[in-house]
Amino acid sequence: MTQHTRAKSEAFTPSGQIQFGVFFQGVNSGTIWKAAESGSQTDFESFRRIAQTAERGLFAAFFLGEGLRLREHLGRPHALDVVGRPDAQTMLAALASVTKNIGLVATQNTTYNDPADLAHRLASLDLISGGRAAWNIVTTDNAWTGANFRRGGYLDHADRYKHAEAFVETAKRIWDSWETPDGPARRVVHHGQHYTVDVTPRLPRSAQYRPVLFQAGDSPEGRNFAARQADVIFSAHPKFDDAVEFRKDLVERSVAAGRGANAVQIMPASEFILAPTAAEAAEKKAWVRSLQIGPQQAIAYLEQFWGRELSSYDPDGPLPEIDPVVEETSETRGSGFHGAKARQLADQWRAEAKDKGLSIRQFVTSKTARVDSTFTGSYTAVADQLTEYARVGAVDGFNISPWLIPTGLDDIVNHLVPELQERGVYPTEYRGSTLREHLGLETPVRLPDGAVEAVRA
Ligand SMILES: Cc1cc2nc3c(=O)[nH]c(=O)nc-3n(C[C@H](O)[C@H](O)[C@H](O)COP(=O)(O)O)c2cc1C
Repeated sequence: MTQHTRAKSEAFTPSGQIQFGVFFQGVNSGTIWKAAESGSQTDFESFRRIAQTAERGLFAAFFLGEGLRLREHLGRPHALDVVGRPDAQTMLAALASVTKNIGLVATQNTTYNDPADLAHRLASLDLISGGRAAWNIVTTDNAWTGANFRRGGYLDHADRYKHAEAFVETAKRIWDSWETPDGPARRVVHHGQHYTVDVTPRLPRSAQYRPVLFQAGDSPEGRNFAARQADVIFSAHPKFDDAVEFRKDLVERSVAAGRGANAVQIMPASEFILAPTAAEAAEKKAWVRSLQIGPQQAIAYLEQFWGRELSSYDPDGPLPEIDPVVEETSETRGSGFHGAKARQLADQWRAEAKDKGLSIRQFVTSKTARVDSTFTGSYTAVADQLTEYARVGAVDGFNISPWLIPTGLDDIVNHLVPELQERGVYPTEYRGSTLREHLGLETPVRLPDGAVEAVRA
């Protein structure tokens, strides 16, 4: 147990601290790859540079997302999306050798992996990094991704968290069953609806016992799953009032799950656009946005919802007057787009754009630019803002997506971090050598033999 461990019966108590993680974006237009200063999205140098800068800034963690199929647009590979996303665990293993302290978080879905295999690979990363590995659990269930695995949509949407829970319980049992001074390694057997596991762990425990568990998924089922299983939620709620509301909701769920009010930490996705003065930051933001959503991105975004080519439309003109040819948006660009009612949206959007006097490009920027997750301003103003988050315990940290790779963290590390340290809300050194220690998380307690035999899915 660490000194930061709090009792299960305790009410939620803010830690008064803010931590940072860095989310190296693999897709979407948040990270600009066409600026003169941009690096390559596949070159190891880009990853090394960002990870080492984050470590210099005492970031708790370096994150990689996951997308298991090249995204498509109107039935073809999406030409404006990033092509090439190295496997997270391979990349993190390489990064483990050029970093010493920062946590290494691999996003891995529970649907297209197998638990014994994934548990072994994550345990390997945890061992070679000296206890710095984490798993960001996601639950991809769309048939389009499944087709890439000859599985199609074999998992019903309603089952994905039940499946994820059995998967995670099984992985935990595997990590928990290594031989100890008190006894030999335990065999882990699971017979469920989707898979069967009969395995004896092949690796010893890591310096942090087992990988730290992050979870990303926002539905009530996703939140309940996190409240039962995860150490940290990678949330989508960075705006202050929303973050406070999300914390309250999660505390209730964690208490209901019997894990106590402080069991699960929260790190929302975020973007920082900073400069010495507010005016310079605003100017920088306009430049960043113009590169994130150029004319082609604006048209392509609408085409996803209209289901048809719109290239004859002027990005600086009004939204298309013609209707979408689809009732529902397809899922080929990823789960976020799936199932939106296209015709209804088109009507709403046309009315909204007209009302606000927005062109296609301005409208798409307002929808896609991280309106809710962007902190813009002078270093001091943003540091003051984050200090308020720390004071009330709205979040435990922020998972920052740099808008530029590989230099996009430089101003945060050089200017924002010192401001936060001066205010006493940001670490001045790594607390230990493992990710669990950096985050102040409890060390898991070994389950008694047979304790989780009941898990079935
Ligand atoms: C902040 C955040 C990051 C996510 N990152 C990924 C990712 O890298 N890969 C992926 O396949 N899904 C990712 N997801 C999707 C979730 O795992 C999940 O499939 C999706 O949110 C739908 O689940 P829900 O209905 O519980 O929200 C992410 C979700 C959130 C909120």
